[in-house]
Amino acid sequence: MKLTRVVAVTATVALLAVAAHSQVDGATYTGNRLCLVCHRANHAKIVTAYPKTAHARAILKPTDEVIKADFTNAPFTKDKITLVLATGRHEQAYLDADLKVLPGVWDVDAKKWLPHEPVDAVTECLGCHTTGFNPETRELKDSMFGVGCERCHGPASKHNTAKKEDRKSTIAIPSSFTPALQAASCGQCHSLGRSKDGKLAYPHGYRLNTDLAEVFTDARPTKPGRNQQYSEMLQSPKHWQAGVVCEKCHDPHGDTAQPYQLVLPINETCLQCHKTTVPSIEEHVKAKKHALPAGATCATCHMPDGRHLFDKTIVPQG
Ligand code: HEC
Ligand code: HEC
Ligand code: HEC
Ligand code: HEC
Ligand code: HEC
Ligand code: HEC
Ligand code: HEC
Repeated sequence: MKLTRVVAVTATVALLAVAAHSQVDGATYTGNRLCLVCHRANHAKIVTAYPKTAHARAILKPTDEVIKADFTNAPFTKDKITLVLATGRHEQAYLDADLKVLPGVWDVDAKKWLPHEPVDAVTECLGCHTTGFNPETRELKDSMFGVGCERCHGPASKHNTAKKEDRKSTIAIPSSFTPALQAASCGQCHSLGRSKDGKLAYPHGYRLNTDLAEVFTDARPTKPGRNQQYSEMLQSPKHWQAGVVCEKCHDPHGDTAQPYQLVLPINETCLQCHKTTVPSIEEHVKAKKHALPAGATCATCHMPDGRHLFDKTIVPQG
Protein backbone atom coordinates (compact mmCIF):
# COMPACT_ATOMS: atom_id res chain seq x y z
CA MET A 1 0.00 0.00 0.00
CA LYS A 2 2.70 2.40 1.05
CA LEU A 3 4.68 1.52 -2.07
CA THR A 4 1.86 2.38 -4.49
CA ARG A 5 1.44 5.75 -2.81
CA VAL A 6 5.11 6.56 -3.31
CA VAL A 7 4.83 5.53 -6.96
CA ALA A 8 1.75 7.67 -7.45
CA VAL A 9 3.48 10.74 -5.98
CA THR A 10 6.57 10.21 -8.15
CA ALA A 11 4.37 9.88 -11.23
CA THR A 12 2.63 13.18 -10.46
CA VAL A 13 5.96 14.95 -9.96
CA ALA A 14 7.25 13.55 -13.26
CA LEU A 15 4.07 14.65 -15.02
CA LEU A 16 4.44 18.19 -13.66
CA ALA A 17 8.07 18.29 -14.75
CA VAL A 18 7.10 17.36 -18.30
CA ALA A 19 4.22 19.83 -18.35
CA ALA A 20 6.35 22.83 -17.31
CA HIS A 21 7.35 25.02 -20.25
CA SER A 22 10.77 26.27 -19.13
CA GLN A 23 13.28 28.60 -20.77
CA VAL A 24 14.50 27.13 -24.06
CA ASP A 25 18.16 26.09 -24.50
CA GLY A 26 20.26 27.94 -27.06
CA ALA A 27 17.66 30.57 -27.95
CA THR A 28 18.60 34.26 -28.17
CA TYR A 29 16.71 37.50 -27.39
CA THR A 30 14.87 39.11 -30.29
CA GLY A 31 12.89 42.01 -28.76
CA ASN A 32 9.15 42.70 -28.48
CA ARG A 33 8.33 43.67 -32.04
CA LEU A 34 7.71 40.19 -33.47
CA CYS A 35 5.69 39.06 -30.45
CA LEU A 36 3.38 42.04 -30.78
CA VAL A 37 2.87 41.45 -34.52
CA CYS A 38 2.21 37.70 -34.31
CA HIS A 39 0.15 37.64 -31.11
CA ARG A 40 -2.17 40.45 -32.13
CA ALA A 41 -4.66 37.95 -33.53
CA ASN A 42 -4.92 35.51 -30.60
CA HIS A 43 -3.93 37.71 -27.64
CA ALA A 44 -5.24 41.13 -28.59
CA LYS A 45 -5.69 42.17 -24.93
CA ILE A 46 -2.06 41.47 -24.04
CA VAL A 47 -0.77 43.20 -27.16
CA THR A 48 -2.89 46.31 -26.50
CA ALA A 49 -2.26 46.53 -22.75
CA TYR A 50 1.45 45.75 -22.48
CA PRO A 51 3.01 48.75 -24.29
CA LYS A 52 1.28 51.12 -21.83
CA THR A 53 2.72 49.42 -18.73
CA ALA A 54 5.57 50.77 -16.61
CA HIS A 55 7.46 47.58 -17.58
CA ALA A 56 7.49 48.49 -21.27
CA ARG A 57 8.73 51.97 -20.35
CA ALA A 58 11.31 51.14 -17.65
CA ILE A 59 14.07 52.84 -19.68
CA LEU A 60 13.48 55.62 -22.18
CA LYS A 61 15.20 58.03 -24.55
CA PRO A 62 15.22 61.61 -23.21
CA THR A 63 12.49 63.75 -24.77
CA ASP A 64 10.62 66.69 -23.22
CA GLU A 65 7.56 64.47 -22.92
CA VAL A 66 9.48 61.73 -21.09
CA ILE A 67 11.52 63.88 -18.66
CA LYS A 68 9.45 64.74 -15.58
CA ALA A 69 12.03 66.85 -13.71
CA ASP A 70 12.17 70.62 -13.33
CA PHE A 71 15.62 71.93 -14.31
CA THR A 72 15.37 75.39 -12.70
CA ASN A 73 17.62 74.46 -9.75
CA ALA A 74 18.98 71.14 -10.96
CA PRO A 75 22.22 69.41 -9.86
CA PHE A 76 23.18 68.96 -13.57
CA THR A 77 22.07 70.31 -16.94
CA LYS A 78 19.46 68.63 -19.10
CA ASP A 79 21.83 68.19 -22.06
CA LYS A 80 23.91 65.67 -20.03
CA ILE A 81 21.04 63.14 -20.15
CA THR A 82 21.38 60.24 -22.60
CA LEU A 83 18.88 57.85 -20.99
CA VAL A 84 15.99 58.05 -18.52
CA LEU A 85 15.28 55.34 -15.93
CA ALA A 86 11.57 54.74 -15.33
CA THR A 87 8.38 56.48 -16.33
CA GLY A 88 8.35 58.56 -13.14
CA ARG A 89 5.41 57.07 -11.25
CA HIS A 90 7.13 58.19 -8.04
CA GLU A 91 10.72 58.95 -9.09
CA GLN A 92 12.87 59.31 -12.19
CA ALA A 93 16.65 58.88 -12.64
CA TYR A 94 18.96 59.99 -15.48
CA LEU A 95 22.11 58.53 -17.05
CA ASP A 96 25.03 60.29 -18.77
CA ALA A 97 26.92 59.21 -21.91
CA ASP A 98 29.17 56.85 -19.86
CA LEU A 99 26.09 55.14 -18.38
CA LYS A 100 26.75 56.72 -14.97
CA VAL A 101 23.74 57.78 -12.89
CA LEU A 102 23.61 61.60 -12.89
CA PRO A 103 23.83 63.00 -9.33
CA GLY A 104 20.15 63.72 -8.72
CA VAL A 105 16.90 61.74 -8.82
CA TRP A 106 13.65 63.62 -9.36
CA ASP A 107 10.95 63.00 -6.73
CA VAL A 108 7.78 63.32 -8.80
CA ASP A 109 5.30 63.75 -5.91
CA ALA A 110 7.37 66.17 -3.80
CA LYS A 111 8.64 67.94 -6.98
CA LYS A 112 12.22 68.11 -5.72
CA TRP A 113 15.69 66.69 -6.39
CA LEU A 114 17.06 63.92 -4.16
CA PRO A 115 20.85 63.39 -4.10
CA HIS A 116 22.14 60.23 -5.83
CA GLU A 117 25.66 58.75 -6.00
CA PRO A 118 27.09 58.81 -9.56
CA VAL A 119 27.32 55.00 -9.67
CA ASP A 120 27.86 52.87 -12.78
CA ALA A 121 24.39 51.99 -14.10
CA VAL A 122 25.84 48.93 -15.86
CA THR A 123 26.56 47.15 -12.57
CA GLU A 124 24.00 48.88 -10.35
CA CYS A 125 20.86 49.41 -12.45
CA LEU A 126 20.53 48.26 -16.04
CA GLY A 127 19.98 44.52 -15.51
CA CYS A 128 16.53 45.23 -14.07
CA HIS A 129 15.35 47.88 -16.51
CA THR A 130 16.24 45.95 -19.69
CA THR A 131 15.95 42.54 -21.41
CA GLY A 132 18.91 40.53 -22.72
CA PHE A 133 21.50 43.07 -21.49
CA ASN A 134 25.05 41.75 -20.89
CA PRO A 135 27.03 43.83 -18.35
CA GLU A 136 30.32 42.51 -19.76
CA THR A 137 29.84 44.05 -23.21
CA ARG A 138 27.93 47.11 -21.86
CA GLU A 139 26.11 47.18 -25.21
CA LEU A 140 22.58 48.58 -24.94
CA LYS A 141 20.46 48.19 -28.09
CA ASP A 142 16.97 49.70 -28.48
CA SER A 143 15.47 46.20 -28.66
CA MET A 144 16.71 45.59 -25.08
CA PHE A 145 14.80 48.54 -23.61
CA GLY A 146 12.38 47.81 -20.77
CA VAL A 147 11.01 44.66 -19.14
CA GLY A 148 10.29 42.95 -22.43
CA CYS A 149 8.09 39.94 -23.16
CA GLU A 150 11.18 37.72 -23.19
CA ARG A 151 12.18 38.74 -19.66
CA CYS A 152 9.26 36.64 -18.40
CA HIS A 153 8.94 34.20 -21.32
CA GLY A 154 12.63 33.59 -22.07
CA PRO A 155 14.64 34.27 -25.25
CA ALA A 156 12.41 33.52 -28.23
CA SER A 157 14.53 33.17 -31.39
CA LYS A 158 13.51 29.49 -31.70
CA HIS A 159 9.86 30.21 -30.91
CA ASN A 160 9.62 32.98 -33.51
CA THR A 161 10.61 30.62 -36.31
CA ALA A 162 9.16 27.36 -34.94
CA LYS A 163 6.76 25.10 -36.81
CA LYS A 164 3.14 25.35 -35.65
CA GLU A 165 3.35 22.16 -33.57
CA ASP A 166 6.52 23.36 -31.81
CA ARG A 167 5.27 26.79 -30.77
CA LYS A 168 4.36 25.93 -27.19
CA SER A 169 7.49 23.87 -26.51
CA THR A 170 9.78 26.73 -27.60
CA ILE A 171 8.62 29.39 -25.12
CA ALA A 172 8.55 29.62 -21.31
CA ILE A 173 5.01 29.71 -19.90
CA PRO A 174 5.17 30.96 -16.28
CA SER A 175 1.70 29.62 -15.37
CA SER A 176 3.17 26.11 -15.82
CA PHE A 177 5.82 26.76 -13.10
CA THR A 178 5.28 26.12 -9.39
CA PRO A 179 3.98 29.25 -7.59
CA ALA A 180 7.40 29.79 -5.96
CA LEU A 181 9.23 29.75 -9.31
CA GLN A 182 6.54 31.87 -10.91
CA ALA A 183 7.23 34.46 -8.20
CA ALA A 184 10.98 34.14 -8.83
CA SER A 185 10.44 35.32 -12.42
CA CYS A 186 9.28 38.62 -10.91
CA GLY A 187 11.89 38.33 -8.15
CA GLN A 188 14.65 38.67 -10.76
CA CYS A 189 14.05 42.42 -10.40
CA HIS A 190 11.65 43.04 -7.50
CA SER A 191 14.38 42.09 -5.02
CA LEU A 192 17.10 43.69 -2.94
CA GLY A 193 20.46 41.89 -2.96
CA ARG A 194 23.59 41.18 -5.03
CA SER A 195 24.67 38.65 -7.63
CA LYS A 196 26.52 35.65 -6.10
CA ASP A 197 29.95 37.18 -6.87
CA GLY A 198 28.82 40.50 -5.37
CA LYS A 199 29.64 42.46 -8.55
CA LEU A 200 26.10 43.27 -9.69
CA ALA A 201 23.00 44.65 -7.97
CA TYR A 202 20.91 42.18 -9.96
CA PRO A 203 20.98 38.51 -11.00
CA HIS A 204 22.76 37.94 -14.32
CA GLY A 205 22.29 34.75 -16.31
CA TYR A 206 19.17 33.70 -14.40
CA ARG A 207 17.18 31.00 -16.19
CA LEU A 208 13.41 31.06 -15.78
CA ASN A 209 11.92 28.17 -13.79
CA THR A 210 15.11 27.67 -11.73
CA ASP A 211 16.06 28.65 -8.18
CA LEU A 212 16.89 32.38 -8.08
CA ALA A 213 19.13 31.82 -5.02
CA GLU A 214 21.66 30.03 -7.29
CA VAL A 215 22.63 33.35 -8.89
CA PHE A 216 21.42 35.98 -6.41
CA THR A 217 21.85 36.52 -2.67
CA ASP A 218 18.77 38.15 -1.25
CA ALA A 219 19.52 40.91 1.27
CA ARG A 220 16.44 40.04 3.37
CA PRO A 221 15.57 43.73 3.90
CA THR A 222 13.78 44.52 7.16
CA LYS A 223 13.15 48.22 6.49
CA PRO A 224 10.54 49.49 4.00
CA GLY A 225 11.90 50.31 0.54
CA ARG A 226 11.20 50.18 -3.18
CA ASN A 227 11.57 47.22 -5.50
CA GLN A 228 11.89 44.60 -2.79
CA GLN A 229 8.43 43.01 -2.97
CA TYR A 230 9.84 39.53 -3.66
CA SER A 231 12.39 39.87 -0.84
CA GLU A 232 9.45 40.67 1.43
CA MET A 233 7.27 37.83 0.13
CA LEU A 234 10.08 35.40 1.01
CA GLN A 235 9.64 36.58 4.60
CA SER A 236 5.83 36.33 4.51
CA PRO A 237 5.24 32.71 5.57
CA LYS A 238 1.45 32.38 5.33
CA HIS A 239 1.00 33.78 1.82
CA TRP A 240 4.24 32.23 0.57
CA GLN A 241 3.35 28.75 1.80
CA ALA A 242 -0.17 29.04 0.39
CA GLY A 243 1.26 29.94 -3.04
CA VAL A 244 -0.25 33.45 -2.95
CA VAL A 245 2.33 34.91 -5.32
CA CYS A 246 2.53 38.05 -7.46
CA GLU A 247 0.21 36.95 -10.27
CA LYS A 248 -2.69 36.26 -7.88
CA CYS A 249 -2.91 39.99 -7.29
CA HIS A 250 -1.11 41.62 -10.27
CA ASP A 251 -1.80 41.09 -13.96
CA PRO A 252 1.61 40.56 -15.60
CA HIS A 253 0.57 42.27 -18.86
CA GLY A 254 -1.29 45.19 -17.29
CA ASP A 255 -4.55 44.10 -18.85
CA THR A 256 -6.56 45.73 -16.06
CA ALA A 257 -8.00 49.16 -15.33
CA GLN A 258 -6.48 49.19 -11.81
CA PRO A 259 -3.40 51.03 -10.53
CA TYR A 260 -0.29 48.87 -10.03
CA GLN A 261 -1.64 46.36 -12.56
CA LEU A 262 -3.82 44.94 -9.77
CA VAL A 263 -6.29 42.32 -11.02
CA LEU A 264 -9.17 44.04 -9.17
CA PRO A 265 -9.64 47.07 -6.88
CA ILE A 266 -7.54 46.46 -3.72
CA ASN A 267 -10.28 45.18 -1.36
CA GLU A 268 -11.70 42.88 -4.02
CA THR A 269 -8.21 41.59 -4.81
CA CYS A 270 -7.93 40.41 -1.18
CA LEU A 271 -11.52 39.24 -0.91
CA GLN A 272 -10.96 36.82 -3.82
CA CYS A 273 -9.69 34.51 -1.04
CA HIS A 274 -10.64 36.03 2.33
CA LYS A 275 -14.42 36.27 1.99
CA THR A 276 -15.14 33.51 4.53
CA THR A 277 -13.42 35.26 7.46
CA VAL A 278 -13.70 38.82 6.13
CA PRO A 279 -17.25 39.27 4.85
CA SER A 280 -16.66 43.00 4.22
CA ILE A 281 -14.06 45.54 5.28
CA GLU A 282 -16.60 47.29 7.54
CA GLU A 283 -17.64 44.14 9.45
CA HIS A 284 -14.05 42.93 9.69
CA VAL A 285 -12.69 46.15 11.17
CA LYS A 286 -15.63 46.33 13.58
CA ALA A 287 -15.01 42.74 14.68
CA LYS A 288 -11.40 43.69 15.41
CA LYS A 289 -12.73 46.57 17.54
CA HIS A 290 -11.26 49.34 15.43
CA ALA A 291 -12.65 52.32 13.56
CA LEU A 292 -12.34 52.28 9.77
CA PRO A 293 -10.10 55.22 8.78
CA ALA A 294 -11.53 57.33 5.92
CA GLY A 295 -10.58 55.88 2.55
CA ALA A 296 -8.87 52.86 4.13
CA THR A 297 -8.35 49.65 2.14
CA CYS A 298 -7.02 46.27 3.27
CA ALA A 299 -3.56 47.61 2.32
CA THR A 300 -3.82 50.51 4.80
CA CYS A 301 -3.54 48.12 7.77
CA HIS A 302 -1.98 45.00 6.23
CA MET A 303 0.54 46.55 3.81
CA PRO A 304 1.96 49.54 5.74
CA ASP A 305 4.45 51.49 3.54
CA GLY A 306 3.41 49.27 0.62
CA ARG A 307 5.19 46.32 2.22
CA HIS A 308 4.40 42.81 1.00
CA LEU A 309 4.70 41.01 4.35
CA PHE A 310 1.00 40.57 5.23
CA ASP A 311 1.95 39.54 8.76
CA LYS A 312 2.14 42.74 10.77
CA THR A 313 -1.05 44.73 11.11
CA ILE A 314 -0.65 48.44 11.70
CA VAL A 315 -3.87 50.31 12.35
CA PRO A 316 -3.41 54.03 11.64
CA GLN A 317 -4.27 56.14 14.70
CA GLY A 318 -6.57 59.19 14.73
C1 HEC B 1 5.58 33.95 -36.07
C2 HEC B 1 4.56 34.12 -35.09
C3 HEC B 1 4.92 34.21 -33.63
C4 HEC B 1 5.90 34.99 -33.06
C5 HEC B 1 6.90 35.91 -33.75
C6 HEC B 1 5.78 34.81 -31.64
N1 HEC B 1 4.79 33.90 -31.36
FE1 HEC B 1 4.29 33.21 -29.53
N2 HEC B 1 3.03 31.84 -30.35
C7 HEC B 1 2.71 31.79 -31.68
C8 HEC B 1 1.75 30.72 -31.88
C9 HEC B 1 1.11 30.35 -33.21
C10 HEC B 1 1.54 30.12 -30.61
C11 HEC B 1 0.66 28.91 -30.28
C12 HEC B 1 -0.78 29.25 -30.40
C13 HEC B 1 -1.28 30.18 -29.39
O1 HEC B 1 -1.58 29.75 -28.28
O2 HEC B 1 -1.39 31.39 -29.68
C14 HEC B 1 2.36 30.86 -29.67
C15 HEC B 1 2.40 30.59 -28.33
C16 HEC B 1 3.00 31.43 -27.38
C17 HEC B 1 2.88 31.30 -25.95
C18 HEC B 1 2.13 30.22 -25.22
C19 HEC B 1 0.68 30.58 -25.20
C20 HEC B 1 -0.20 29.63 -24.46
O3 HEC B 1 -1.37 29.53 -24.85
O4 HEC B 1 0.22 29.03 -23.50
C21 HEC B 1 3.57 32.34 -25.39
C22 HEC B 1 3.74 32.64 -23.92
C23 HEC B 1 4.14 33.11 -26.48
N3 HEC B 1 3.78 32.53 -27.67
C24 HEC B 1 4.91 34.23 -26.32
C25 HEC B 1 5.60 34.87 -27.35
C26 HEC B 1 6.58 35.91 -27.14
C27 HEC B 1 6.98 36.48 -25.79
C28 HEC B 1 7.04 36.26 -28.38
C29 HEC B 1 8.10 37.28 -28.75
C30 HEC B 1 9.42 37.12 -28.16
C31 HEC B 1 6.35 35.44 -29.36
N4 HEC B 1 5.48 34.62 -28.69
C32 HEC B 1 6.55 35.50 -30.71
C33 HEC B 1 3.20 32.60 -32.67
C34 HEC B 1 4.24 33.51 -32.54
C1 HEC C 1 13.45 42.87 -15.71
C2 HEC C 1 13.01 43.28 -14.42
C3 HEC C 1 11.57 43.07 -14.00
C4 HEC C 1 10.85 41.90 -14.00
C5 HEC C 1 11.29 40.51 -14.44
C6 HEC C 1 9.56 42.24 -13.45
N1 HEC C 1 9.50 43.58 -13.16
FE1 HEC C 1 7.92 44.60 -12.43
N2 HEC C 1 8.92 46.37 -12.66
C7 HEC C 1 10.23 46.48 -13.05
C8 HEC C 1 10.59 47.89 -13.15
C9 HEC C 1 11.96 48.43 -13.54
C10 HEC C 1 9.42 48.63 -12.83
C11 HEC C 1 9.28 50.15 -12.75
C12 HEC C 1 9.13 50.72 -14.12
C13 HEC C 1 8.74 52.18 -14.08
O1 HEC C 1 8.40 52.72 -13.03
O2 HEC C 1 8.79 52.79 -15.17
C14 HEC C 1 8.39 47.63 -12.50
C15 HEC C 1 7.09 47.93 -12.12
C16 HEC C 1 6.16 47.00 -11.69
C17 HEC C 1 4.86 47.31 -11.11
C18 HEC C 1 4.27 48.70 -10.92
C19 HEC C 1 3.34 48.99 -12.08
C20 HEC C 1 2.57 50.28 -11.94
O3 HEC C 1 1.96 50.69 -12.95
O4 HEC C 1 2.53 50.90 -10.87
C21 HEC C 1 4.27 46.11 -10.78
C22 HEC C 1 2.93 45.90 -10.13
C23 HEC C 1 5.19 45.06 -11.18
N3 HEC C 1 6.31 45.63 -11.72
C24 HEC C 1 4.94 43.70 -11.01
C25 HEC C 1 5.70 42.69 -11.58
C26 HEC C 1 5.31 41.29 -11.63
C27 HEC C 1 4.03 40.73 -11.07
C28 HEC C 1 6.32 40.63 -12.27
C29 HEC C 1 6.39 39.16 -12.64
C30 HEC C 1 5.25 38.62 -13.36
C31 HEC C 1 7.34 41.60 -12.62
N4 HEC C 1 6.93 42.84 -12.19
C32 HEC C 1 8.53 41.32 -13.27
C33 HEC C 1 11.10 45.45 -13.31
C34 HEC C 1 10.72 44.12 -13.47
C1 HEC D 1 17.28 44.39 -8.68
C2 HEC D 1 16.66 45.13 -9.77
C3 HEC D 1 16.82 46.62 -9.87
C4 HEC D 1 17.98 47.33 -9.85
C5 HEC D 1 19.40 46.81 -9.67
C6 HEC D 1 17.60 48.71 -10.07
N1 HEC D 1 16.25 48.81 -10.23
FE1 HEC D 1 15.20 50.53 -10.51
N2 HEC D 1 13.47 49.50 -10.27
C7 HEC D 1 13.38 48.14 -10.17
C8 HEC D 1 11.99 47.78 -9.94
C9 HEC D 1 11.47 46.37 -9.77
C10 HEC D 1 11.26 48.98 -9.89
C11 HEC D 1 9.79 49.15 -9.60
C12 HEC D 1 9.62 48.85 -8.13
C13 HEC D 1 8.62 49.57 -7.34
O1 HEC D 1 7.82 50.35 -7.85
O2 HEC D 1 8.63 49.31 -6.09
C14 HEC D 1 12.23 50.04 -10.12
C15 HEC D 1 11.91 51.39 -10.18
C16 HEC D 1 12.83 52.41 -10.42
C17 HEC D 1 12.49 53.80 -10.52
C18 HEC D 1 11.10 54.35 -10.43
C19 HEC D 1 10.71 54.48 -9.03
C20 HEC D 1 9.26 54.80 -8.93
O3 HEC D 1 8.66 54.15 -8.10
O4 HEC D 1 8.76 55.65 -9.69
C21 HEC D 1 13.66 54.49 -10.74
C22 HEC D 1 13.83 55.99 -10.92
C23 HEC D 1 14.73 53.51 -10.77
N3 HEC D 1 14.18 52.25 -10.56
C24 HEC D 1 16.05 53.82 -10.96
C25 HEC D 1 17.08 52.93 -10.74
C26 HEC D 1 18.47 53.30 -10.67
C27 HEC D 1 19.03 54.70 -10.85
C28 HEC D 1 19.16 52.15 -10.39
C29 HEC D 1 20.65 51.97 -10.17
C30 HEC D 1 21.25 52.84 -9.17
C31 HEC D 1 18.19 51.07 -10.31
N4 HEC D 1 16.94 51.58 -10.54
C32 HEC D 1 18.51 49.76 -10.06
C33 HEC D 1 14.40 47.23 -10.23
C34 HEC D 1 15.73 47.56 -10.12
C1 HEC E 1 6.37 40.75 -16.22
C2 HEC E 1 6.35 39.45 -16.83
C3 HEC E 1 5.69 39.28 -18.17
C4 HEC E 1 5.85 40.06 -19.29
C5 HEC E 1 6.70 41.29 -19.46
C6 HEC E 1 5.06 39.43 -20.32
N1 HEC E 1 4.43 38.31 -19.82
FE1 HEC E 1 3.22 37.06 -20.85
N2 HEC E 1 2.81 36.01 -19.15
C7 HEC E 1 3.40 36.26 -17.93
C8 HEC E 1 2.84 35.36 -16.95
C9 HEC E 1 3.21 35.31 -15.49
C10 HEC E 1 1.90 34.55 -17.63
C11 HEC E 1 1.02 33.45 -17.04
C12 HEC E 1 -0.40 33.86 -17.02
C13 HEC E 1 -0.86 34.41 -15.72
O1 HEC E 1 -0.57 33.84 -14.68
O2 HEC E 1 -1.62 35.42 -15.77
C14 HEC E 1 1.91 34.99 -19.03
C15 HEC E 1 1.12 34.45 -20.04
C16 HEC E 1 1.23 34.79 -21.39
C17 HEC E 1 0.53 34.15 -22.49
C18 HEC E 1 -0.46 33.04 -22.33
C19 HEC E 1 -1.78 33.69 -22.13
C20 HEC E 1 -2.91 32.78 -21.88
O3 HEC E 1 -4.04 33.28 -22.05
O4 HEC E 1 -2.69 31.64 -21.48
C21 HEC E 1 0.90 34.78 -23.64
C22 HEC E 1 0.43 34.47 -25.05
C23 HEC E 1 1.84 35.82 -23.27
N3 HEC E 1 2.00 35.80 -21.89
C24 HEC E 1 2.45 36.66 -24.17
C25 HEC E 1 3.21 37.76 -23.82
C26 HEC E 1 3.66 38.77 -24.76
C27 HEC E 1 3.40 38.75 -26.25
C28 HEC E 1 4.34 39.70 -24.04
C29 HEC E 1 4.94 41.00 -24.50
C30 HEC E 1 4.04 41.88 -25.27
C31 HEC E 1 4.34 39.25 -22.65
N4 HEC E 1 3.63 38.10 -22.56
C32 HEC E 1 4.97 39.92 -21.61
C33 HEC E 1 4.37 37.19 -17.66
C34 HEC E 1 4.79 38.19 -18.52
C1 HEC F 1 -1.90 39.43 -1.92
C2 HEC F 1 -1.85 40.35 -3.02
C3 HEC F 1 -0.52 40.76 -3.53
C4 HEC F 1 0.55 39.95 -3.84
C5 HEC F 1 0.65 38.44 -3.68
C6 HEC F 1 1.56 40.81 -4.39
N1 HEC F 1 1.14 42.11 -4.41
FE1 HEC F 1 2.15 43.72 -5.08
N2 HEC F 1 0.67 44.96 -4.43
C7 HEC F 1 -0.52 44.54 -3.89
C8 HEC F 1 -1.31 45.70 -3.52
C9 HEC F 1 -2.69 45.67 -2.87
C10 HEC F 1 -0.55 46.84 -3.86
C11 HEC F 1 -0.91 48.30 -3.63
C12 HEC F 1 -0.43 48.66 -2.24
C13 HEC F 1 -0.78 50.01 -1.75
O1 HEC F 1 -1.74 50.61 -2.21
O2 HEC F 1 -0.03 50.47 -0.86
C14 HEC F 1 0.69 46.33 -4.46
C15 HEC F 1 1.70 47.14 -4.97
C16 HEC F 1 2.79 46.66 -5.69
C17 HEC F 1 3.75 47.48 -6.40
C18 HEC F 1 3.71 49.00 -6.55
C19 HEC F 1 4.67 49.68 -5.63
C20 HEC F 1 4.61 51.16 -5.84
O3 HEC F 1 4.29 51.87 -4.88
O4 HEC F 1 4.88 51.62 -6.96
C21 HEC F 1 4.66 46.64 -6.98
C22 HEC F 1 5.85 47.03 -7.80
C23 HEC F 1 4.28 45.28 -6.60
N3 HEC F 1 3.16 45.34 -5.82
C24 HEC F 1 4.96 44.14 -7.01
C25 HEC F 1 4.68 42.85 -6.55
C26 HEC F 1 5.51 41.70 -6.81
C27 HEC F 1 6.76 41.69 -7.65
C28 HEC F 1 4.92 40.64 -6.17
C29 HEC F 1 5.44 39.23 -6.03
C30 HEC F 1 6.80 39.09 -5.50
C31 HEC F 1 3.71 41.14 -5.55
N4 HEC F 1 3.61 42.49 -5.78
C32 HEC F 1 2.79 40.37 -4.84
C33 HEC F 1 -0.92 43.23 -3.71
C34 HEC F 1 -0.13 42.12 -3.88
C1 HEC G 1 -5.07 33.79 -3.72
C2 HEC G 1 -5.64 33.85 -2.40
C3 HEC G 1 -5.31 35.04 -1.50
C4 HEC G 1 -5.31 36.38 -1.83
C5 HEC G 1 -5.64 37.02 -3.17
C6 HEC G 1 -5.00 37.09 -0.61
N1 HEC G 1 -4.78 36.21 0.41
FE1 HEC G 1 -4.27 36.67 2.33
N2 HEC G 1 -4.12 34.70 2.79
C7 HEC G 1 -4.40 33.66 1.93
C8 HEC G 1 -4.12 32.39 2.60
C9 HEC G 1 -4.35 31.01 2.00
C10 HEC G 1 -3.63 32.72 3.88
C11 HEC G 1 -3.16 31.76 4.95
C12 HEC G 1 -4.29 31.00 5.56
C13 HEC G 1 -4.73 31.65 6.78
O1 HEC G 1 -3.96 31.76 7.72
O2 HEC G 1 -5.92 32.06 6.83
C14 HEC G 1 -3.67 34.18 3.98
C15 HEC G 1 -3.31 34.90 5.12
C16 HEC G 1 -3.45 36.28 5.24
C17 HEC G 1 -3.24 37.03 6.45
C18 HEC G 1 -2.84 36.44 7.80
C19 HEC G 1 -1.34 36.38 7.83
C20 HEC G 1 -0.80 35.81 9.10
O3 HEC G 1 0.44 35.78 9.20
O4 HEC G 1 -1.55 35.37 9.96
C21 HEC G 1 -3.47 38.35 6.18
C22 HEC G 1 -3.36 39.52 7.14
C23 HEC G 1 -3.82 38.43 4.78
N3 HEC G 1 -3.81 37.15 4.25
C24 HEC G 1 -4.11 39.59 4.14
C25 HEC G 1 -4.36 39.70 2.76
C26 HEC G 1 -4.53 40.94 2.07
C27 HEC G 1 -4.45 42.30 2.69
C28 HEC G 1 -4.75 40.63 0.77
C29 HEC G 1 -4.93 41.57 -0.40
C30 HEC G 1 -3.88 42.58 -0.61
C31 HEC G 1 -4.72 39.17 0.64
N4 HEC G 1 -4.49 38.65 1.88
C32 HEC G 1 -4.93 38.46 -0.53
C33 HEC G 1 -4.87 33.76 0.64
C34 HEC G 1 -4.97 34.94 -0.08
C1 HEC H 1 -8.39 49.32 10.19
C2 HEC H 1 -7.41 48.29 9.97
C3 HEC H 1 -7.79 47.07 9.16
C4 HEC H 1 -8.26 47.04 7.88
C5 HEC H 1 -8.63 48.20 6.99
C6 HEC H 1 -8.34 45.62 7.52
N1 HEC H 1 -7.91 44.85 8.57
FE1 HEC H 1 -7.62 42.83 8.54
N2 HEC H 1 -7.05 42.87 10.46
C7 HEC H 1 -6.97 43.99 11.24
C8 HEC H 1 -6.58 43.62 12.59
C9 HEC H 1 -6.37 44.57 13.76
C10 HEC H 1 -6.44 42.22 12.59
C11 HEC H 1 -6.00 41.32 13.73
C12 HEC H 1 -4.51 41.21 13.55
C13 HEC H 1 -3.76 40.66 14.67
O1 HEC H 1 -4.33 40.03 15.54
O2 HEC H 1 -2.52 40.88 14.61
C14 HEC H 1 -6.73 41.77 11.23
C15 HEC H 1 -6.65 40.46 10.81
C16 HEC H 1 -6.83 40.03 9.50
C17 HEC H 1 -6.62 38.68 9.02
C18 HEC H 1 -6.10 37.50 9.83
C19 HEC H 1 -7.22 36.60 10.25
C20 HEC H 1 -8.06 37.22 11.32
O3 HEC H 1 -9.27 37.35 11.11
O4 HEC H 1 -7.52 37.62 12.37
C21 HEC H 1 -6.96 38.67 7.70
C22 HEC H 1 -6.93 37.48 6.74
C23 HEC H 1 -7.36 40.03 7.35
N3 HEC H 1 -7.26 40.82 8.47
C24 HEC H 1 -7.76 40.41 6.08
C25 HEC H 1 -8.20 41.69 5.77
C26 HEC H 1 -8.78 42.05 4.49
C27 HEC H 1 -8.96 41.10 3.33
C28 HEC H 1 -9.09 43.38 4.56
C29 HEC H 1 -9.75 44.23 3.49
C30 HEC H 1 -11.07 43.74 3.04
C31 HEC H 1 -8.67 43.86 5.87
N4 HEC H 1 -8.18 42.80 6.59
C32 HEC H 1 -8.78 45.18 6.31
C33 HEC H 1 -7.14 45.30 10.82
C34 HEC H 1 -7.58 45.69 9.59
